Amino acid sequence: MSTQIQELLARRRPGHALEQPFYGDPDIYQSDLDTIFYRDWLFAIPACELPKAGNYVTHQVGDYRVVLVRGADGVIRAFHNTCRHRGSILCKAAKGSAPKLVCPYHQWTYELDGRLIWARDMDADFDPSQHGLRTVHCREVAGLVYICLAQTAPDFDAFADLARPYLEPHDLNNAKVAFESSIVENGNWKLVWENNRECYHCGGNHPALCRTFPDDPVVTGIEDGETPPHLAAHFARCEAAGIASQFRIDAAGQYRLARMPLKVGAKSYTMDGGIAVTRRLGRVPFDDAGSLLKFHYPTTWNHFLPDHSLVFRVTPVGPRQTQVTTKWLVHKDAVEGRDYDLKRLIEVWTATNDEDRRVVEDNQMGIDSPAYTPGPYSSKQESGVIQFVNWYCNTMTSRLGARVTMAAE
Ligand code: FES
Ligand SMILES: [Fe+2]
Repeated sequence: MSTQIQELLARRRPGHALEQPFYGDPDIYQSDLDTIFYRDWLFAIPACELPKAGNYVTHQVGDYRVVLVRGADGVIRAFHNTCRHRGSILCKAAKGSAPKLVCPYHQWTYELDGRLIWARDMDADFDPSQHGLRTVHCREVAGLVYICLAQTAPDFDAFADLARPYLEPHDLNNAKVAFESSIVENGNWKLVWENNRECYHCGGNHPALCRTFPDDPVVTGIEDGETPPHLAAHFARCEAAGIASQFRIDAAGQYRLARMPLKVGAKSYTMDGGIAVTRRLGRVPFDDAGSLLKFHYPTTWNHFLPDHSLVFRVTPVGPRQTQVTTKWLVHKDAVEGRDYDLKRLIEVWTATNDEDRRVVEDNQMGIDSPAYTPGPYSSKQESGVIQFVNWYCNTMTSRLGARVTMAAE
């Protein structure tokens, strides 16, 4: 199959949407998992979701089930969620808290750091130290937890070093999840990303978001040449106040950071543009600093505001199904009803997510027609989509090529 994908990649028309099989063929979907999701760093959770030792969350990526747990030493670790005895799933709940991880089948008991500490009536030659939980690579940067399912993880430090000064002013380690939503969009994961990477669709689909978020393509797109003066002035003002802001993108195109202004007068994603949370999360020195926009392919885009933060996680669940999980983070001491009104906090992005779900599903339905042919992207409005698709195709081409070479040796 990889040869067929390589041929499709090789004949791709630059600046155009991908051919139909990329958006639904089960073999290409599997190749996306094998080549990207099982090899790259994936955003998993905000660290504040596990405030205490023994707090855990479970997550599934393709065929892999993972449990993330905070240890007695305060460190968050990730393990394959499968018992080292006969393989039962260990933690079934989406989240919970436990002093030890106990397998429900025969009660093998693991320490929060993965060591096997109890297994009843095993043979004399049984060595518990050889049967600890299998680890999943896990790294944290400024309150965001990433995992990597590969045997050998790619470098994380270059991303972490770039992102840290942008994220630290948002103080995510002092956050709590005020609300979380998880929706499944009936569309291929790449359509979810393509839609996210442009605001060409915003005016026609996002009445609530457009009250505060500019649909100016320089905000969502890719900086090309000179920074427009109004953006340069915004970056300079924020940086002079000590918060990293200017547009930065990874050489390979996998991640980008930029603190972008909202519409004039807007401070947060609310219906009137005012702040949503009076007990602010972070130390951004002024309320009109806009939104720190971060993406990191293939699993997350984020908005960090002066009063609260939003983290989004993209998880493919089938060739035409993608889960999008959104978490609204507020200061851990913010009190609902006093410091924020939950409806006001979540209404803009709840509506926006649902509108995006609809356009992605409509996009998928049209692509599934035999009459579909890939159309051209607008380089003015869809530079971000072109950038995403180029990253995807370049990543697939180089990794599939490398694998074929290895197999031929
Ligand atoms: S499968 Fe876990 S204790 Fe037996
Ligand atoms: Fe959208």
